[in-house]
Amino acid sequence: MIDRLEALRAEADAAIAGAPDEAALRELEVGYLGKKGAITEVLKGMKDVAPADRPRVGQVVNEVRGAVESAIARRRESLEAARIAALCEDPTFDATLPGPVPRVGALHPVTQVTWHVEEVFRAMGFMLLDYPEVETDWYNFQALNIPADHPARDMQDTFWLEGGHLLRTHTSPGQIRSMQSFAPPFRAIFPGRVFRYERIDASHEHTFHQVEGLMIDRDISVANLIHSMKTLLGAIFEREVTVRLRPGYFPFVEPGFELDIQCQVCGGSGCSVCKHSGWVELLPCGLVHPNVLRFGGLDPDEWSGWAFGLGLSRLVMMKYQIEDIRHLAGGDLRFVAQFR
Ligand code: DAH
Repeated sequence: MIDRLEALRAEADAAIAGAPDEAALRELEVGYLGKKGAITEVLKGMKDVAPADRPRVGQVVNEVRGAVESAIARRRESLEAARIAALCEDPTFDATLPGPVPRVGALHPVTQVTWHVEEVFRAMGFMLLDYPEVETDWYNFQALNIPADHPARDMQDTFWLEGGHLLRTHTSPGQIRSMQSFAPPFRAIFPGRVFRYERIDASHEHTFHQVEGLMIDRDISVANLIHSMKTLLGAIFEREVTVRLRPGYFPFVEPGFELDIQCQVCGGSGCSVCKHSGWVELLPCGLVHPNVLRFGGLDPDEWSGWAFGLGLSRLVMMKYQIEDIRHLAGGDLRFVAQFR
């Protein structure tokens, strides 16, 4: 058996040294060391070797196997080196040519603007919270002071799901959820997607983005609200913006306001974006209604707050002068690629 092994070793050495390329070498490797390889076959004869001889024979088997393995490794290395050397000799091969350039994607403008808004609020000490897109009637409506037969429900046409669930029509349910989770005073924003059962056109989408903001503390006033809104709009637009406040009705705030900003496209002189009024409706807000504080588990005699709901999609359209909201969720990569 030892003779057989030594013969195999000599034969393998010669074959390996003469292997013309890496494929041939691989074949030899399988032929000698593989599951059905020649050396493996010899090993199967071990059971017929007298027990006393087994250690000696075993040692030779290991030696031969190791020698063949390292001969293969050495040959592989020299074949590889020869291949590279030949490549370098080839006058048509230019190692300095740039490789293929990977295609670079772009962040969606809604993502970019959302991240910017988050940064602005983080710097002002706000928590960043994330709440479910599938909501219950209670969080989306009732706890926001919109009972079952309230006409305000018609303002927000709703996608109803099975089992009484719905797709949130605004980010306001986060007001209740955050009041339930954090001890006052606190301040937080919750950006996210919202859904409305709408006929879509250039200014209406069934899926769009809002960011809700909430501040809960003692003695919050309208002056405090206005100051906070101006600060945040200045930070978002990176310049001082002229704002105008109109009374607005939302069941979950009292008083409620519509905050308009001077049109950033025409500077107030009138254009198609502001429908020639010079103003753009951007930020509904108000002081949190006592009923809403109560639904959130807070005592309105002790705590007060302001809230706003910023239309992120509208903000993106203002910032980049996008004329049709359907571009935002349209899924056309040529649109997104423009925001690289
Ligand atoms: N949730 C309202 C909507 O989507 C927007 C809103 C209005 C949010 C007033 C607020 C607020 O926080 O105070 O139409």
